Amino acid sequence: MKIISITKIIFLLQIWILLNVSPSVAHQFPAFNKLQLPLRTIGPESVAFDRKGGGPYTGVADGRVVKYQGPKVGFTDFAITSPNRTKERCDGKNGPELQQICGRPFGLGFYYKTGDLYITDAYYGLVVVRPSGGLVTHRVTSFEGRHFAFLDALDIDQKVGVVYFVDSGAVFQTGNRTKIVESRDTSGRLFKYDIGTKQVTLLLRGLSGPVGVALSKDSSYVLITEYIAQRIRRFWLKGAKANSSDVFTNVEGIPDNIKRTVLGDFWVAISNTKQHTTFSIGQRINQVGKVVEARNFTDQYNTPNGITEVQEHNGRLYVGCLDQNFIGVFRV
Ligand SMILES: *[C@@H]1O[C@H](CO)[C@@H](O)[C@H](O)[C@H]1NC(C)=O
Ligand SMILES: *[C@@H]1O[C@H](CO)[C@@H](O)[C@H](O)[C@H]1NC(C)=O
Ligand SMILES: *[C@@H]1O[C@H](CO)[C@@H](O)[C@H](O)[C@H]1NC(C)=O
Ligand SMILES: *[C@@H]1O[C@H](CO)[C@@H](O)[C@H](O)[C@H]1NC(C)=O
Repeated sequence: MKIISITKIIFLLQIWILLNVSPSVAHQFPAFNKLQLPLRTIGPESVAFDRKGGGPYTGVADGRVVKYQGPKVGFTDFAITSPNRTKERCDGKNGPELQQICGRPFGLGFYYKTGDLYITDAYYGLVVVRPSGGLVTHRVTSFEGRHFAFLDALDIDQKVGVVYFVDSGAVFQTGNRTKIVESRDTSGRLFKYDIGTKQVTLLLRGLSGPVGVALSKDSSYVLITEYIAQRIRRFWLKGAKANSSDVFTNVEGIPDNIKRTVLGDFWVAISNTKQHTTFSIGQRINQVGKVVEARNFTDQYNTPNGITEVQEHNGRLYVGCLDQNFIGVFRV
């Protein structure tokens, strides 16, 4: 009799737990989840979401921009940046030698007013594709008659229709981290592109490996990460310091993309190589340059190149990387 009553108690307890716990369980998602890229595809450097919240979209090493369509479908082809790209020649080919033919899209940003996707392709310039995807329709490949060296990141001012983007410098074409850092190159530049007038303006030269751009919430400045100089520079757009720049903060390690949060902080992806191990850290930096949160992604991203982006979207962090075949999704 005693045994039965204990069994009964346990049974009632289980029902009680089920009733009380399951509603919150239903709203949870795993602490870490992988969005698997198509077969033999690697290198989701950066991500973007469209105006309806669709995606993530990402540019991969074989030149495609792919779109995530949920767990059942996975990723599908969305856009290509090179008119010479064919699926036969390029799909699944991730080597840097083919990227000048297949394209290499890095920075992505939707302009919500039209739904168009702006892309900085390392070799094909600043390009744009319609909301339905396909081959890009317009491209800006040069400034004052000289071809860009290596375009990387962008950010869009949705209010005025301006794209801020960076040219990292020719040494980035080598794809060799050691060589890039040892070069001490300072040929990097920040540009703006006016969507209405299609005019390109040079805003800042002398940058040391600019690889990330983020506009502040009030549009008064843009932050630029400098991969080689290991710091974040601020270029003032408004106010008494307009058109000048200063150091926003120094970074311990190599910073890559920088992405603003809804509340106005910035997530910076940082990799730090010590004794043949690369540590991957995400830092959330507030508007006065102070680190307010750090997340360690090293265990999930055991790679020589580390992570390239941390982006917050709807309570999750999306983490990009050059040599993995997935986008990592972490609970905030
Ligand atoms: C694309 O293909 C055309 C025709 O085959 C060729 O002339 C052009 O140089 C190619 N462009 C690139 C960037 O490979
Ligand atoms: C990268 O560059 C460094 C320094 O120039 C060189 O020693 C190394 O061999 C290069 N690595 C590759 C894979 O080319
Ligand atoms: C900043 O530069 C732009 C041209 O690039 C100019 O129109 C503007 O007046 C300048 N602002 C200041 C405060 O110097
Ligand atoms: C991050 O995690 C790695 C692996 O677990 C660990 O070795 C490293 O010390 C951690 N770094 C920081 C800054 O917490």
